[in-house]
Amino acid sequence: MKLIVTGGAGFIGSCVIRTLIRTTDVSICNVDKLTYAASPEALAEVSGSPRYRFERLDICDGPGLAALFEREQPDAVMHLAAESHVDRSIDDPAAFIMTNLVGTYTLLAASTAYWRGLPEARRASFRYHHVSTDEVYGSLGDVGAFTETTPYAPNSPYSASKAGSDHLARAWFHTYGLPVLVSNCSNNYGPFQFPEKLIPLMILNGIAGRPLPVYGRGMNVRDWLHVEDHARALWQVLTRGQPGESYNIGGNAERRNIDVVHAICDLLDELVPDPQGSRRRLITHVSDRPGHDLRYAIDASRIRRDLGWVPQETFETGLRATVEWYLANEAWWRPILERRYAGQRLGLA
Ligand code: NAD
Ligand code: DAU
Repeated sequence: MKLIVTGGAGFIGSCVIRTLIRTTDVSICNVDKLTYAASPEALAEVSGSPRYRFERLDICDGPGLAALFEREQPDAVMHLAAESHVDRSIDDPAAFIMTNLVGTYTLLAASTAYWRGLPEARRASFRYHHVSTDEVYGSLGDVGAFTETTPYAPNSPYSASKAGSDHLARAWFHTYGLPVLVSNCSNNYGPFQFPEKLIPLMILNGIAGRPLPVYGRGMNVRDWLHVEDHARALWQVLTRGQPGESYNIGGNAERRNIDVVHAICDLLDELVPDPQGSRRRLITHVSDRPGHDLRYAIDASRIRRDLGWVPQETFETGLRATVEWYLANEAWWRPILERRYAGQRLGLA
């Protein structure tokens, strides 16, 4: 199989590429614009593989995509490229509208033009996999979980742009017959996650002895999944999913933010003792995120039942491995912290 992966230099995309080059015989062309969030270093282990190649391209570039499809002749597309950080979408939504909506539209249009020109057998087996988030469903109260039929109710510019892109993908299936699969996953964590997201931010600030900024009272709940479990799920959806369907992906690991931060403090204290007692002393409650969704929880019954996917990590094993990874990989994150843009956001400039 020849696969185009968009956003393959990002946190999840790079894990997908590492996993698939290691465990399958697929050939991958990674299409990525290389925004601030990209990490080409995360692809070092595959860069020498004859089954991997990289193309620097903006998914809003229609002619560039058309030429790429012509050259690559892919059997499938897995679309992960996106602006992904909620706080940035609140500060400056424009890039989210461009990449997540216009970029998704441009990719769908280029994929459809290419797909229509394929011989019948290849047209039937072609797949377009749109990778999305549980945030499109909005916020839950204390009980219940998102299923594939939960109505969309996005609350942030990020989740609204992702919800719109999901609707575009769905419409391309119903209107044009493009064999579209959609997946909606909960919060990921693991190696190479850009340190603006909760878990790596808390690990790196904890290592440096800096304040750990918890929004509001820290009572918001997220449902955590290790990125390698997500990568394995995406492969199952791509290769075994039913076109026109969507699949929720989650690890059944709901945690309050404050409990996640406590767990990180305790792991760091165990692995690198804090001379001043405990890193919990660094926890600082700061202003809440505007429109902050209270709780996310995924009901992953469909992908478990229909595709036989089960996560391999628990939150406890995955978080420990992640803290250990950041402790062992300062050579990856130190240059990121020293870049001016990230430094400003993290208060480390
Ligand atoms: P990320 O921000 O780490 O990576 C995004 C990648 O997309 C980067 O490499 C970036 O350079 C690239 N990109 C951005 N704009 C582009 C453009 N216009 N053209 C080409 N490439 C572009 O994101 P991530 O956390 O790896 O998320 C990947 C996907 O998974 C996104 O679609 C996101 O919505 C979805 N998702 C993320 C999570 C999570 O917890 N991180 C959970 C569920 C779903
Ligand atoms: O649910 C899936 C989504 O998870 C993905 O679609 C997004 O791309 C991804 O960024 C993530 O969104 P969140 O907003 O849930 O993740 P974030 O790491 O930004 O925040 C997690 C929780 O922690 C959230 O309730 C806000 C809180 N938080 C976050 C940061 C960065 C803090 O309390 N302090 C912080 O400094």
